Amino acid sequence: MRRLDQLLSALGYCSRREAMAFVKEGRVKLGGVVVKRSDQRVDSALITVDDEPLEAPDGLLAMLHKPVGYSCTHSEEEGQNIYELLPSHWPERNPAVTSVGRLDKDTSGLLLVTDIGSLVHRYTSPKSDIEKTYLVEVDRELDPKLIDIFAKGDLMLRSEEKPCLPAKLEIVSTLSARLTITEGRYHQARRMFASQGWHVEKLHRERFGPYTLGDLAEGEWQMLSLEHVPR
Ligand code: URA
Repeated sequence: MRRLDQLLSALGYCSRREAMAFVKEGRVKLGGVVVKRSDQRVDSALITVDDEPLEAPDGLLAMLHKPVGYSCTHSEEEGQNIYELLPSHWPERNPAVTSVGRLDKDTSGLLLVTDIGSLVHRYTSPKSDIEKTYLVEVDRELDPKLIDIFAKGDLMLRSEEKPCLPAKLEIVSTLSARLTITEGRYHQARRMFASQGWHVEKLHRERFGPYTLGDLAEGEWQMLSLEHVPR
C-alpha cells in the first residue's frame, strides 16, 4: 500500500501537490468511492482517475515502432527523439520510462521502452542471450561466405578486444539479409558488414527476443503484458 499522492506522482499523473487538487475535484476513486485525502494509503489496483484504472501501476513495458530519424535520447539537442512519439507523462514517471538499449538514429524497428530497471539490465547486459533480428539492406550483392564468417564467433571489429559472438545470417535476396545477434555493441550490425566491405543502406529491427512488431505502424507504440516478464 502506498500513499495516494506518492503513487500518482510516481506514475507521472501529477506532482504530489497537484494530487491534492485531483482529490478535491473528486477525480480519484478507490473501489468506486471518491477518495477524500491525498495522503491516504491505497491499493493501486483499486484506484481510478477520471474513472480510468491507473496506467501500468506495477511497471510499464511497451514497444515502439521507431521510424528512421529519431534518436534514442532524452536530450532535445539531437533533433527528433523517440520520447516525442510516446505519452509525454512517461518520462515523468519515477523511475522514468527509458528505452531498452538503443537503435541508431538511422535504424527503424522494434524498440522496447520500460520503467523496470531490472528488465533494462537483463536485456542489455553483455551476458544477455536475447536474440535481436535485423533486416539489412546493403549496397552490393551479398556473398554467401558471410554466413560462415558471421557464424564462426571470431569476427573482430575495429578497436574491440573480443570477437563478436556467433551470429545467424539468412540471405533473403541479392541485396537483403536477416541478421540475428545476441549482443548489442555500438553500431554492431553496420560494423559487422563494414568489416567485410559491405555498406548497410537500411537497417530495421524486426524482433527483440519474444517480441515482433506485428502490424504496429511506424511511429506507433503498444503496451505489452508483464505476465511472462521475469522480474
Ligand atoms: N546495429 C546497428 O548497427 N545499429 C543499430 O541501431 C542496431 C544494431
